[in-house]
Order: sequence, then C-alpha cells, then structure tokens
Amino acid sequence: MAAFDPSEKKISVAFVCLGNICRSPMAEAVFKHTVKEKGYSEYFKTIDSFGTSGWHIGESPDSRSAKTCRKHGVPVNHAAQQISPRDFEKFDYVIAMDTSNKEDLLHMKPRNSPTKVNLFGDWRTNEKFQKIVDDPYYGGINGFETNFEQLTHFSEEFLKKEIGDI
Ligand code: 4NP
Repeated sequence: MAAFDPSEKKISVAFVCLGNICRSPMAEAVFKHTVKEKGYSEYFKTIDSFGTSGWHIGESPDSRSAKTCRKHGVPVNHAAQQISPRDFEKFDYVIAMDTSNKEDLLHMKPRNSPTKVNLFGDWRTNEKFQKIVDDPYYGGINGFETNFEQLTHFSEEFLKKEIGDI
C-alpha cells in the first residue's frame, strides 16, 4: 500500500544548485526518469530545477551533464532559470545539492512558507554515496558520473520514503 494518496494531493519538487546547468538539471532528469520507471507519475504535479544564481539563465544543460544522462539512457531537456521567493509557493520540496545552496534557499524562503528545504543527500540510506553533490563544473567528466550515481540513489530513496511501496 502506498503511504501517500495521489487522489488527495500531488507533490511538486524543485532541485536547486548554483548555475542550473550541471547538477540540478541532472537531478531533475534522473528523478523524472526514476519516477516514470517505477510507476510513480500519478503522485507528482511538477518536477523542475533552478539555480540560486542567474548566471546561465536560458542555457541548456552543460554538455558533460547531458552526455552523462544520455549515456545512462536518461532524457534531459531544460533551460536554466533562477529561483525566486515566489517559487516557494509552487513546491512542496525545494531540494539543494550542497550546503551553500541550502543556506541560500533558507535565507530566501518566505517566513510563512510550508515548503521543505532539504539537501537531496538527506534521503541517503547507503553511506557509500557522499551526502553532498559536489560542484563538478571545474572538474572532469568523472565528477558528473559520481553526481549521477548519487542522484540515482537519492531519487530511489526519496520515492521509498516519501511515497512508499506501490
Ligand atoms: P551547477 O554547476 O551549479 O551544478 O550548475 C555550476 C555551473 C556554473 C558555474 C558554477 C557551478 N559557474 O561558475 O558558472
């Protein structure tokens, strides 16, 4: 039995990093793919991603991020956008990649907002995966592969914990 009833309310989730071209569009793509693969689509309203900065607004995901997703058969399609306080109205969960993103989000979150702000790594159940999704921008392709493995584990564990077995 599902712990969560989609006929009552559907969940909206936003993933957030600094630039919204490497980690969070990958998180969005991996999470959407995992939701579809596991048959959880009816439980979700919106799955999206943002940057805390506006440096790359309108840009497609970094080619290394897209390449890593494609290599694993995960479709990726996103245009970078910057999060603002109004966006908290639309999401139940705003999920940060690292502690710096999380601090920025907690400062931005409107005082009366019920939105949960977490690290994606808060859902980790296997310590072989690092909790923080490190910024891969100035590193090599390996960093993106590590990000992908973490994001897959966190997505699966989020669904188990927040939705339950179906
Ligand atoms: P992201 O990576 O936060 O995972 O999208 C970065 C992308 C761009 C920059 C830094 C991190 N930048 O300095 O432009």
